[in-house]
Amino acid sequence: MTIPGSVAATHVDFLVLGAGVAGLRAALSLAEQGTVLLVAKDAVAESNTHYAQGGIAVAMDGDADVALHLEDTIAAGDGLVFRPAAEALVQDGPRRVAELIEWGARFDREDGDWMRTREGAHSRARILHAFGDATGAEMGRALRERVRTHRKVRIAERQMAVALHQQDGRVVGADLLDESGQVHSVRAKATLLATGGAGQIYCETTNPAVATGDGLALALQAGAELADMEFYQFHPTALHLAGAPRFLLSEALRGEGAQLVNERGERFMRRHHPLLELAPRDVVARAIVQESVAGDFDRQQEIYLDMRSVPGVAWNERFPTISAVLARYGLSLTKNRIPVYPAAHYLMGGVRTDLAGRTTVPGLYAAGEVAATGVHGANRLASNSLLEGLVFGARAAEAMLADTALLPVAEDGAIFASECSMLAATDADRRFAAESTTRMQQMLWSAAGLFREEATMRRALAELETMAAELRQRCRAGRPWREGLEAMSIAAVGRAVLQCALARRESRGAHARLDHPKKLAENENRHTLFSLARGVHFEQW
Ligand code: SIN
Repeated sequence: MTIPGSVAATHVDFLVLGAGVAGLRAALSLAEQGTVLLVAKDAVAESNTHYAQGGIAVAMDGDADVALHLEDTIAAGDGLVFRPAAEALVQDGPRRVAELIEWGARFDREDGDWMRTREGAHSRARILHAFGDATGAEMGRALRERVRTHRKVRIAERQMAVALHQQDGRVVGADLLDESGQVHSVRAKATLLATGGAGQIYCETTNPAVATGDGLALALQAGAELADMEFYQFHPTALHLAGAPRFLLSEALRGEGAQLVNERGERFMRRHHPLLELAPRDVVARAIVQESVAGDFDRQQEIYLDMRSVPGVAWNERFPTISAVLARYGLSLTKNRIPVYPAAHYLMGGVRTDLAGRTTVPGLYAAGEVAATGVHGANRLASNSLLEGLVFGARAAEAMLADTALLPVAEDGAIFASECSMLAATDADRRFAAESTTRMQQMLWSAAGLFREEATMRRALAELETMAAELRQRCRAGRPWREGLEAMSIAAVGRAVLQCALARRESRGAHARLDHPKKLAENENRHTLFSLARGVHFEQW
């Protein structure tokens, strides 16, 4: 889509959409050789990165450690990890983390060494953390401070990318919608999507409000392929209190010994997996749901995280962010059992890329949660996501520099507001967008949540298509408005998730089909691909 009336553009060498760890890391490399516009949809610190608590998984102890990290990543991914991507992650990881430490990131230390936690499906304690449970916030801070000292990077806050520009099949920039409703055009030699995930397609999510999957929708419109969209990770332990947001209760709590118990105080993971609370994330999430409806209760049973009897951990000091949030609800890690339930957390699929962030559309790159390299397979290993952003953000930047080295230098120019900057949505349009967003979120939670089956998914897809058609009508080209575009993104991503989930007739990793409960050996390393031109098909890689 191109917004008619975009009359003049600002020119930069590189456009980076998204200011989480992947976007920030890429911007730093790109700025070595060109001008960069780094675009944040909200305030620059507001991204999934900021809310990542538990830590960053990295093998800091040499080759044997790296090999083990690779094994754990592949095992957690349940037959769908693309091995070269996982190798890139674990092998590049230590030097990318060392570089970040050199740039000022402060990971927690004890007795002269890094403190390390173990999380689900890790064979050893290898998760570095910062300020206890504020790892993403600290990494974001360190990267932002370095970016801010770079004169070639300009940060544009509170701007939403609403369309990608294409010339002869190549992406050459984007239109950005600002807070006042004006659209600005940006021209760039290469554009990076680092827009994060899409937790907002579900009514229960740990993600912030900005995570509506806009980058995925833009990529689809530009003709790119998405991969593995049926694999959405549900974090087992989000705070489950009526009226409270689904605040993340880090897996590191279980890494330090917290137990999952039902209302009778039974440690029910004993019935589900030998690794108990540290089983792979998909296993723990499903066990919680199953346990909550088991037994002779006439209502859903509460499930709790309980650490009251675990010795040797100073819970409030080790988890200061979590403790402070719980205190707002009158809860304490040391005095109360904490009610939990799964919530949508992380998209394993995304825009299909090679190991250097190249999408299937020239000029368009993707890195971090929005991208699908195959590194996570069907279930991401805990705390591999911040590492993914660092490693693949840097790799994408290298490819963008190499691929554009021979392109003409972009000219600087002023930003001109385009002529189509009038907000034209009516109250009825806005009401429709809000109502259909809520409806789609609820529908996707029940149809494409932790347990799925054909009939429910088909019904949801039909209803979603109807809503999407009306939304398209109300979001007519030339009249962009944020809530309408976000609802369209949710519809586009929801459709891709449903279509891929319908096509995968088996249960694997985070994708559990009640009507196809078995994992099929022939589907090992078979990935779903989705595009507007071809719909869904499978490919082996
Ligand atoms: C957590 O702290 O449990 C979240 C980390 C992750 O998403 O891997």
